[in-house]
Amino acid sequence: MKFEPTYGKLKNGKTVLIRNCEIQDAAKLLKSVKQQIADSIYIPKTEEEFTLTEEQEKKWISSFMVASNSLLLVAEYEDEIIGNIDLTGHTRKIMQHTAVIGMGMLLDYRNMGLGQLLLKGAIHWAKQNPQLELLWLQVYTENHLGVSLYKKMGFEENGILKNYFKQDGRYYDNLTMSLVVK
Ligand SMILES: CC(C)(COP(=O)(O)OP(=O)(O)OC[C@H]1O[C@@H](n2cnc3c(N)ncnc32)[C@H](O)[C@@H]1OP(=O)(O)O)[C@@H](O)C(=O)NCCC(=O)NCCS
Repeated sequence: MKFEPTYGKLKNGKTVLIRNCEIQDAAKLLKSVKQQIADSIYIPKTEEEFTLTEEQEKKWISSFMVASNSLLLVAEYEDEIIGNIDLTGHTRKIMQHTAVIGMGMLLDYRNMGLGQLLLKGAIHWAKQNPQLELLWLQVYTENHLGVSLYKKMGFEENGILKNYFKQDGRYYDNLTMSLVVK
């Protein structure tokens, strides 16, 4: 199902484009996500673990083009990928009506409404998608920007797995949230 590109305004007045990710975005997306990981303690992946090559990234992007219950969007500003969101639909029949959300953006663009633009676009698409009925995600309970955004967009809290993340000897709790889109 096609995603219609949309423009949106951030709180700093900048206009960004939200559009489907294309294969030719691989290098720019890789660069952006690497930076996002370096600049966030709320993405549960270390910089050393993020070892995707451009070829592997291309394959990952193309996997969204063939899965009818999946979507990968990017936010673009002045030719740079500043953020992204993915809905990864389940491949097993019994859970094909569900998709898990991942998202992130460059540090300079956080807390400016970009998350809302990306999530709104993805939710709108999911509501039109005949397969999808349930979106879900996991977030550090301390990630106030994330939790606040997801609540605002209608996600409900499903439960907390305590001490799920362990970083530099410190534990963090993991909150699961979900949204019905049927
Ligand atoms: C989490 C993330 C996706 C949220 O996107 P964002 O663009 O920063 O979020 P938005 O600006 O759209 O919304 C954030 C909301 O939190 C509110 N907020 C800001 N500080 C807050 C605080 N300390 N406590 C509670 N809410 C807060 C903002 O006011 C805003 O709500 P509003 O639009 O009603 O004013 C983004 O910050 C990000 O990529 N962070 C790093 C990676 C990450 O955490 N990814 C998500 C993993 S689940």
